[in-house]
Amino acid sequence: MQNLSKDQVLKIMERYENDPQQLIAVLLDIQAASGVNCVEKQWAQLAADVLKVPLSKIFDVLTFYAMFSTEPRGEFVIEICRSMPCFFTKTAEVVRWFETAAGIKMGETTADGKISLFYTSCVGACDVGPVAKIGDDVFGNLSEEKVKTLVKCCREGKSEPQVRQELQSLCQN
Ligand code: FES
Repeated sequence: MQNLSKDQVLKIMERYENDPQQLIAVLLDIQAASGVNCVEKQWAQLAADVLKVPLSKIFDVLTFYAMFSTEPRGEFVIEICRSMPCFFTKTAEVVRWFETAAGIKMGETTADGKISLFYTSCVGACDVGPVAKIGDDVFGNLSEEKVKTLVKCCREGKSEPQVRQELQSLCQN
């Protein structure tokens, strides 16, 4: 796992001309470069100092938007929907499949830093539940085979189109 340096964080902010209006873009880039898929407290503090934004405002942003985390996460964050009606389409079973395939429990990250498992609320794809979201991509009609394929693809760092191709070969999505 790569460790971000102060210089790298300063350079990210310079790319945006240290403009506080670009706070979200800056935080996204810091998170992407972190190697642990989160914005750590020391970098939030540095951003507050350089952009001249109150630290409390930065934490408001980091906690308001679901794409941010202040805790280390895997490269791929798999979020399993547990809202109704997904819940009624066997969320518990889907969770078990993911936990077994990834070898971790919900809320944990694999030792290789590739995969984290979390719950999410409705992602607007209720008609194809049960559903999991990885980044911006939603995968529906999950079966045990699909879950195994998703986890394997994350481990191998495959792109979303490659993953969809593999899933389509399993069954209709
Ligand atoms: S309830 Fe799961 S996507 Fe809507």
